[in-house]
Amino acid sequence: MSELKKIALQILGNGKGILAADESTATMTKRLENVNVPSTPENRLLFRETLFSSSSMADCIGGVILYDETIKQTSSKKNKIPELISSMGSYPGIKVDTGAKVLAGSPEEKITEGLDGLRERLKEYSKLGAKFTKWRGVYSISKNYPSQLSIQSNAHALARYSALVQECNMVPIVEPEVLMDGEHSAQDCYQKTSDVIKRCFEELIIHKVDLKGIILKPNMILAGNKYKDKLSSQEVTNLTLKCLKNSVPSEVPGIAFLSGGQTEIEATENLNLINKNNDTNFIMSYSYGRALQQSALKFWSKNINDIEGTQKVFNHRAKMNTLAAQGKWSREIDN
Ligand code: 13P
Repeated sequence: MSELKKIALQILGNGKGILAADESTATMTKRLENVNVPSTPENRLLFRETLFSSSSMADCIGGVILYDETIKQTSSKKNKIPELISSMGSYPGIKVDTGAKVLAGSPEEKITEGLDGLRERLKEYSKLGAKFTKWRGVYSISKNYPSQLSIQSNAHALARYSALVQECNMVPIVEPEVLMDGEHSAQDCYQKTSDVIKRCFEELIIHKVDLKGIILKPNMILAGNKYKDKLSSQEVTNLTLKCLKNSVPSEVPGIAFLSGGQTEIEATENLNLINKNNDTNFIMSYSYGRALQQSALKFWSKNINDIEGTQKVFNHRAKMNTLAAQGKWSREIDN
């Protein structure tokens, strides 16, 4: 088995998932201001270090995606953040795209940037201890979107990124996120997500990316957040499994969903049912940002020095998602 596949399986094996703690400084500032904590480098580090040194890192969190600021920070116990994560039994990873910008030719859509100088940045991150990386393409749904231009150009960027990451012996997380904002139906989300994922794999193959050494990070198939009806967890599960079965090549070792604005409980419940019904060879786990951190952040904001209490809240959420990644979660044990 290739080294990259081994790493992918260690990150996602045995119900483990990924903690997406790679919010840019601008996004993290919004999250902290929302709970009335000043967004200083020290506070951003304190919250993240609290999560990274919690006990669930060993049992539940196979990998942590970091942001550039964090991978270069040093913990209060004087170890480098990637070393802290490795010492807890998890893999450090890094977001390497530089964000989604206006797409020339279709200005209501976005193209993710960050390819220029990427080879050099990857070498630096690898030296700092990163074993895997993330790049997110973002697509919105409306009558005419995502356009072919957006599907094509983001797939091309994801493929060029992935090839460069594997050249540097790291596992690329390929994240094409079809957003849940809007009035669209689940059927629309199904169709458009299928188009997006299929195009990504066509480009990955053209760029000679080893599909056994990537992790796919897709959205679940959901109705838009302004759609008139709410989908049941069983409907989300059926559509999500159908979409992935039809659009992901079987060599891909693991799929780790983003939470995308679902509540913590929705994200866990849907993941659980997907795993109960999983009739594919893919591992189906989580790579959650908000759905892993929300309660912990809220608790922490009331007393930023209550490390133990915050870790307890985070450990619970991580444990629930790790149970869900094995189809063993229930509402009763989550209470
Ligand atoms: P959410 O789980 O909050 O959607 O974040 C995951 C992520 O990494 C988005 O790029």
